[in-house]
Amino acid sequence: MFRELVEIIYEVIEDLQFDIVSTFNYARANHDFSFSKLVNALIWQSWGIFLGFRKLSAPLQIFASCLLVFAWFFISIRLYMFFSTAKCSQTDKMNNKTVLITGANTGIGFETALDLARRGARVILACRNPERASVAASKIRDLTGNDDVVFIRLNLSDMSSVRQAAAKVAMSEPRLDVLICNAGVALSRQYKTEAGLELQMSTNHFGHFLLLNLLLPQLASSGSGRVIVVSSSAHHWATLDVDDLNSEKTWIYSQNRIYARTKLANILFTKELDRRCKLAGLNVTANCLHPGTVQTNLFRVPMFGPVLEPFVSFLTWLFYMTPKEGAQTSIYLSVSENVAGISGEYFENCRQKNCSKEASDSLKAVNLWNRTAEMVELQPEESHI
Ligand SMILES: NC(=O)c1ccc[n+]([C@@H]2O[C@H](COP(=O)([O-])OP(=O)(O)OC[C@H]3O[C@@H](n4cnc5c(N)ncnc54)[C@H](OP(=O)(O)O)[C@@H]3O)[C@@H](O)[C@H]2O)c1
Repeated sequence: MFRELVEIIYEVIEDLQFDIVSTFNYARANHDFSFSKLVNALIWQSWGIFLGFRKLSAPLQIFASCLLVFAWFFISIRLYMFFSTAKCSQTDKMNNKTVLITGANTGIGFETALDLARRGARVILACRNPERASVAASKIRDLTGNDDVVFIRLNLSDMSSVRQAAAKVAMSEPRLDVLICNAGVALSRQYKTEAGLELQMSTNHFGHFLLLNLLLPQLASSGSGRVIVVSSSAHHWATLDVDDLNSEKTWIYSQNRIYARTKLANILFTKELDRRCKLAGLNVTANCLHPGTVQTNLFRVPMFGPVLEPFVSFLTWLFYMTPKEGAQTSIYLSVSENVAGISGEYFENCRQKNCSKEASDSLKAVNLWNRTAEMVELQPEESHI
């Protein structure tokens, strides 16, 4: 009985594998990758497998049929995830352009850096850990054949590290075409930096605010600088008290609430940056985005114990996008000519989308800018807009 079961499982997996490969080959040959057609073709092919179950005993027929239905259910979800994710179809090259990406040693940032290096850009990975950054840079050089991939040390939660990194970039790069504010953390506990700033807000918002201000002259001198801020749809749940950016009035620390707040700050910052650049007549655009729900290290706290963890990992694989899929909107905003003149907007799945009402509050955006400038002690000579 046990041997028979194992044989059935093996047979179903082998048949499905064969079906998927042949269906994809057919789709590739006919240039037709529409989700409904693929699923349709796969359902018809699996009907053949199902008819083959008739030779089994009744209980085994039921078991094998259930196995098949479950397999199809999961495969259809994964296929749906694959087809519903927009891909950056632009083939624009980035030769002679310089891009700086924060938090580019892993996850969405790494995939973005890899794609832009493939397009010929000079890519600067700005990361807090030099060993991890060095490994990522050499991996990108090996995979793309582009030797112009370097890294600098940048700890966004430490404003002196941000100032040092920006000074290095200002010295070595006469121009900067794209700045991608990608790095982020989601923490389970409340931490303060040495300077007494809340760590999530410090990494996700304060550090990027200071970095942008310091690198604005390089972005402006490129003639068409682009700033891209990786926010999140989580901002929809958030409200932001501009006088409590350190979350000191918050009674109970909630990881999700504070993370969402930092992502709301990202959008308000982008919109105010756009307004100030327009006012100053700078040719710099600023847009922000939600990358999707992506399988990365972001929510890295193991919460489910050794028994549930594999199950949770499986569900994550099933329902979450891959980092490469999650990088598509960042890549689109970096390279596409379609967004050349667009600024102050929020994107998702390579398309413009509405953000929350609070994220569009222009008065709050001004107040946030001014309060953040105070908290990071932005000096008059560091402020260009
Ligand atoms: N994953 C999602 O589902 C999702 C959804 C919405 C938005 N996002 C946003 O997407 C962005 C990228 O996140 P991800 O999902 O790719 O996460 P990830 O894999 O954890 O990558 C985050 C990156 O940020 C870096 N980082 C963390 N703290 C830093 C600091 N103090 N200074 C400099 N770099 C720091 C990390 O460096 P280490 O490797 O050294 O830790 C890592 O390179 C984040 O802004 C996140 O909020 C993600």
